[in-house]
Amino acid sequence: MFFANDPSAYRTRLIVHTLIPTFVLPVLVTTLFLQRVYPDVALLFLLIAQLFSIPAWGAITVRYGQYQQRKLADSLNAQIIPRVRGRWPGNLDIMLNMIKAAKERYLHDPYEDLFEEYKSNTLNLGFLWGDFIITKDEEVVKYVLTTGHDHFGHGSRVKEILARFLGDGIFNSDREIWKFHRSMTRPFFLKERISDFENFEHHTSRTLSVLRALGPIPIDVQDLFGRFTIDAASSFLFGSSLETLSMPLPKAGEAKMGPKGSSASGEFGDFAQAFEEAQQVVTLRARSGNLWPAIEFFGDRLSPSIKAMDSFLGPMVENTLKENRMAAARGVKKSTDETNLLEYMAANTDDPKIIRDELLNILLAGRDTTAALITFTVYALALHPHVLERAREEIVSKCPPGTVPSFDDLKTFKYLRAVLNEVLRLYPPVPIILRASTSGATAIPRTTTADGTLRKPYFIPSKANVAFSSFLLHRRKDRWGQDAEEFDPDRWLDSRVEHMVKNPFIFVPFNAGPRICIGQQFALNEASFFLVRLLQEYDSFELTPEYQPEGSQPPAGWYRGRGRAAVEKVWFASAMTLFAKGGLWLRFGKATI
Ligand code: HEM
Repeated sequence: MFFANDPSAYRTRLIVHTLIPTFVLPVLVTTLFLQRVYPDVALLFLLIAQLFSIPAWGAITVRYGQYQQRKLADSLNAQIIPRVRGRWPGNLDIMLNMIKAAKERYLHDPYEDLFEEYKSNTLNLGFLWGDFIITKDEEVVKYVLTTGHDHFGHGSRVKEILARFLGDGIFNSDREIWKFHRSMTRPFFLKERISDFENFEHHTSRTLSVLRALGPIPIDVQDLFGRFTIDAASSFLFGSSLETLSMPLPKAGEAKMGPKGSSASGEFGDFAQAFEEAQQVVTLRARSGNLWPAIEFFGDRLSPSIKAMDSFLGPMVENTLKENRMAAARGVKKSTDETNLLEYMAANTDDPKIIRDELLNILLAGRDTTAALITFTVYALALHPHVLERAREEIVSKCPPGTVPSFDDLKTFKYLRAVLNEVLRLYPPVPIILRASTSGATAIPRTTTADGTLRKPYFIPSKANVAFSSFLLHRRKDRWGQDAEEFDPDRWLDSRVEHMVKNPFIFVPFNAGPRICIGQQFALNEASFFLVRLLQEYDSFELTPEYQPEGSQPPAGWYRGRGRAAVEKVWFASAMTLFAKGGLWLRFGKATI
């Protein structure tokens, strides 16, 4: 098809792949059939027949599809994944419920309801008669990410949803294009590069000086840490910092809700807002199943954000290309060791779109994820002062205030690492991962699950969407123990760590397999380094709910909810990455020793 490789042609695809086969084809076939068999058919009868032909055709094609799936599953000796049965055709009621729930309920609670109701950790949501598989089963996760990796990709649906935002960057590509990006970025994450802490120290000092200047005035740390991580990642990968720490911060008591956190003004504020808005739009698209092209038929909701982001990033890309051309004219050629990622890309392509796509992909990866890890660590430390005290003792005993930790120092901070692992477990910065079966139907091989039962393989239909919630998997009591929902870093230091050692796929905050996060070590070094410097200087973190922007307090119903919903003090949500609605406002208390 002429538009098959153009994911932005979503309207054409909606017409050709959905509207014509669903509505036009049955009406056409019915009309031709009736006029041939009953040339004098009455108009009213014809109209009624046309109307009924649409659901009848739908039911026949769905039943036939299911019959074929069952036959294929039998031939593979596999079982069909339990299908959720809603009250409305195409499980539209369930889909609308999920969109509504995302605005009011605790994260992934509606999935948990369904897992409980159907007594299965893997379900087919069957949205609009398609295959939308959701799982919190580590065996499925393991197969999708590692042993069966070649059967899965991001798939055309996810690609189309993200196309205008992330283009053909590393997050939104499969197979050869993905391999190209992965090989291009890999040299920049080697140990020698990520253990150079000069960059972290520079941006950490800037961040701490912002805190010192504020004194006891509360600050939205989610915003602040987002600036720290974007400045550090841009210096590291693009050679120059975006200097967002120097731009206006949201003010305590005046901040309004932005798309994710609290909104800031100024040039960076516009970029950050657009960046967050784009993440919200693509998340809503993903939740709307195949319906989103219809919702956006008369206007692409990404357009305003893309315009704002491009006007911020465009000059940076153009500058690099210009400098690169000038360097080439002077005959200057740097080795990979001397270049940063942006220069390396500019030396390999003069297409500004490829560079812009890569920039945005890496900024998304490098900013919000690590900022979420640091934000939720500070949140957890504020809720658990005894953990803060113990982490601080460990830090100060080895690295007294004023000293800068080295790569080797960080390796000795066992308790701090346990705290980070516990935060990554309970608050994974990427709480859900999407994949699609891209090479025909497959079966997840028969496995012995952790509780010792032998399960018949699951049948995964061709072109099925598969999503796994690390958020729910990381909280499973049958995998982590009865205290799974408690924040307890000691579980990483005592015998409970055996749960993880025996069954590593129950903990996947950085993904696994060939597409494992390339920035994992960079992020852990960055977060650890920053927290060491922060805890050297501050010994109390006080949440200040009175400064949260209006509408960002957790809904009252949460306090009666199950699990951690009842104890949370901020409203979690997810738009590609986990965040606290309205930001996380808190006050730091200066340490005296
Ligand atoms: C705590 C921080 C981080 C977490 C929890 C995290 C998590 C993840 C996860 C779950 C994925 C898989 C996404 C998917 O396949 O759909 C991923 C991929 C990726 N991450 Fe990270 N990430 C973090 C920090 C970073 C940083 C700092 C960078 C770079 C500056 C980075 C670069 C990437 C890249 C380039 C990919 C795509 C890899 C590929 O598809 O081959 N990440 N990350």
